[in-house]
Amino acid sequence: MNLFRRMSAALFLLSIACVPAWAAEAPQAEAFGKTKEGTPVEIYTLKSEKGLSAKVMTYGATLVQLHVPDKNGKLADVLLGFDDVAGYESENNQYFGCTTGRVCNRIAKGKFTLEGKEYELAINNDPNHLHGGEKRSLDKVVWKARAYANDKGQGVTFTYTSPDGEEGYPGALKVTVNFFVPKDANRIGIRYKATTDKATPVNLTNHAYFNLAGEGSKTVLDHMLRLNADKYTPTDDTLIPTGKIENVADTDLDFRKPKRIGARIKTYDESAAIGYDHNFVLNEKPQDKDLNLAAMLYHKDSGRRLRIMTTEPGIQFYSGNFLKGQQGKGGKVYAHRSACCLETQHYPDSVNHPEFPSIILKPGQEFSSFTTYGFTAE
Ligand code: GLA
Repeated sequence: MNLFRRMSAALFLLSIACVPAWAAEAPQAEAFGKTKEGTPVEIYTLKSEKGLSAKVMTYGATLVQLHVPDKNGKLADVLLGFDDVAGYESENNQYFGCTTGRVCNRIAKGKFTLEGKEYELAINNDPNHLHGGEKRSLDKVVWKARAYANDKGQGVTFTYTSPDGEEGYPGALKVTVNFFVPKDANRIGIRYKATTDKATPVNLTNHAYFNLAGEGSKTVLDHMLRLNADKYTPTDDTLIPTGKIENVADTDLDFRKPKRIGARIKTYDESAAIGYDHNFVLNEKPQDKDLNLAAMLYHKDSGRRLRIMTTEPGIQFYSGNFLKGQQGKGGKVYAHRSACCLETQHYPDSVNHPEFPSIILKPGQEFSSFTTYGFTAE
């Protein structure tokens, strides 16, 4: 072998030895622009060595991108969103990928009574309060971030302290939201923790809009959905639970076996929800497990499958009925029902339903909730 070939062979071997497949390096903060008020927003990239990569930003502790492989290994971003902060601050943003709270979902007439005191919240979904309020809900504030890596993967922990009285809620609420991508799986986990100095309601979720064919694809009605729920909470015509818990059997809310989202959605076209926008009561978690299966979403052409596991007792399945054809990432059009949300949470309006699992957090207690989104393709 001549000297040149020997040197190239040696260099090649050296390059293999020196390039680790995955490095336990903390993700770097990158600038993502500024809010209207001028606050800088940062974005972080979390990667698995199996192909998944996620971007999360400090505005709203929001999941901005989620690239996952299809059955041929081709990556696509399966989340609706925008390319800049201005998009997220605009009317076109319908809670895309954000951390939703302090209390996600609806509170009837924006009112509740706690420890003898009546509280009044913003009515931002007439006649009810939705997703934590109007101006300073958790999706509209800029969080502090700390990125890290360990031998299991990469993570970012966002922290925000919502002052006593913010959006009308009692107590200073300290919230952390941790996003973690394990190095050896196409999965992202979101762990929520909170403490308070006064009794207060807390119900947190992520409002990711999924289309497993890739964001900007025309519809989600061709996806197959399975929900691990025998029961749901019927609502009045303002989407507030009546308090009853009913069986999904013999209704078009029966997703106990995988069913095409579009198969029976027409049943709900004329309802207040104009499609699926229902809270499902998850079947009891196996006693020896920390996490319960909540939902499976499958898209045949790409082969992508999403599996959601959670500690929460419920899941809101929302079929993107209010998407209005707004332009999102790269100018793509987000048509009516072109994505769906699978929001793990306590039931809507729990604060006014003592018969539902409680969402009241008291001083000295720690709120804790964990949901994972795992992807495979076949
Ligand atoms: C939730 C609600 C829906 C809708 C969306 C946001 O999923 O249940 O009715 O408000 O958020 O547009």
